[in-house]
Amino acid sequence: MAALTDQTVRELIQKAFAARRFAYTPYSHFQVGAALLTQDGRVYTGCNIENASYTPTVCAERTALFKAVSEGERRFSAIAIVGSREGERNRLITSPCGVCRQALFEFGGPDLVVILAKSEEDYLQTTLGELLPYGFGPANLND
Ligand code: THU
Repeated sequence: MAALTDQTVRELIQKAFAARRFAYTPYSHFQVGAALLTQDGRVYTGCNIENASYTPTVCAERTALFKAVSEGERRFSAIAIVGSREGERNRLITSPCGVCRQALFEFGGPDLVVILAKSEEDYLQTTLGELLPYGFGPANLND
């Protein structure tokens, strides 16, 4: 797959910030947005959605992933993630939790590009293979 252009990275980060505005976070007050790029160039966004019973809480990354998969998408090339406490600037990058890494691995595999952004200009670009080395995926069951 062709490398992501700076413009694509910028757009994904913008969309992740836009999605974060819908985060439902009355308990942690930590708001996350994600923008997931398909190999065909479509973008699905997600935010975290918390719950009074806590464990049903879903992260922004899985919201975006499940929206996309439920609409027939299975091939992804990149995801941008932004997170911070309500009303604050992004002081740190927000890295996907272990459950989200595993969920993304199912469809993205190790080559999925992961953009962890504080702003449009300040981001770290890595891959899911770096974040989840030796990941367990569909290939393990098909051998
Ligand atoms: N969260 C995400 O949405 N994505 C991450 O990558 C890390 C954590 C959410 C879950 C919860 O609503 C809040 O952030 C605090 O953990």
